[in-house]
Amino acid sequence: MSGSLVIDNIGQLVTNDPSLGEGELGIVRDASLVIESGTVAAVGAAGAIADEQIDARGACVLPGFVDSHTHLVFAGDRAEEFTARMAGRPYDGGGIRVTTDATRSASTQQLRRLTELRLAEAHRAGTTTIEIKSGYGLNVVDEVRSLEVAEHYTAETTFLGAHLVPSEYEERADDYVELVCNEMLASAAPHARWIDVFCETGAFDADQTRAVLAAGREAGLLGRIHGNQLGEGPGVQVAVECGCASVDHCTFLSDTDIDALASSDTVATFLPAADFSTRQPYPDARRVIDAGATVAIASNCNPGSSYTTSMSFCIAIAVRDMFMTIDEAVQAATIGGARALQRDDIGRLAPGCLGHATILDAPSHHHLAYRPGVPLVRHTVGPLGAFITSPD
Ligand code: NIG
Repeated sequence: MSGSLVIDNIGQLVTNDPSLGEGELGIVRDASLVIESGTVAAVGAAGAIADEQIDARGACVLPGFVDSHTHLVFAGDRAEEFTARMAGRPYDGGGIRVTTDATRSASTQQLRRLTELRLAEAHRAGTTTIEIKSGYGLNVVDEVRSLEVAEHYTAETTFLGAHLVPSEYEERADDYVELVCNEMLASAAPHARWIDVFCETGAFDADQTRAVLAAGREAGLLGRIHGNQLGEGPGVQVAVECGCASVDHCTFLSDTDIDALASSDTVATFLPAADFSTRQPYPDARRVIDAGATVAIASNCNPGSSYTTSMSFCIAIAVRDMFMTIDEAVQAATIGGARALQRDDIGRLAPGCLGHATILDAPSHHHLAYRPGVPLVRHTVGPLGAFITSPD
């Protein structure tokens, strides 16, 4: 964005910078937000002048959502699996192979189109930064193809070759890990910032996870883990030990896991929509937060465990069922996501940060949890809009 833009007549501006306003959310009332060449230039009283003007008409403006965990590049859906689950079949991650078959069969053009539709949905719902993983290719060609699609839309791309052992490597998990750590990683690394592993019974064990993260680190990729989703396990411990930026899910945590998170820089990222869609218990967010760990909330948009791009929906669950305060949940979905991506230029609306903002059709951020399921985002100012072509 070149030139200047002012969002004016903001009833309640959430800056996430306590030095700018009230409380942890740094709330400023009757405010204006001036954005110059895409960067926040000033936060001030209403009435600022700029080349372009958006009148917030007294509504709430907050930092765009930072969705730090998605699997947006895939073909097909798994509505049948979801229906069976609602009839009692448990989620075990095995359906990843169904999506892998569909994704391998899709053309690159189809994958791009599908990703754009999901991005458009996320943008309309207020997301301005999105992480996108591979993980439905599970061979060299299709993992790289997925990352090439993803990198067209975001700098936050994650190589997830270690999502599940594909059927052609059945009973040969170590051979597959070897492939991931060598040939696949070498081809994927130029297209990724992050490396991720699904560390869970039925996917990859602690040693395999360590091996993939170490190889990724050698190749210049930063680590993150899917862990403690289906039961207690080594995910959190390995994430902390390996200095991962984030461990995602954290649905089943032991006291030792919580202590480890609290005394580390690893962010505990909750994915409430996955627990919702898989009928699992919700994480004990209160214990994690009260212990002093840093938390984030992300959508985990994928066709198996969480087919939603709505960060507001995740906030509403976090408040209603995970007992997070509304302020905590909004922070987790904005500055928390930024921390999980080790970014300090997003998730806040302070001078020098990127001018990524969400204008609500509501007077305060409380409405995000108070009015669940209602599309409260009136306008999103951020980069994802530039990629969206009109839906057919
Ligand atoms: O984060 N748990 C592993 N990966 C995804 C689900 C993938 C799928 O079921 O297709 C998740 O929930």
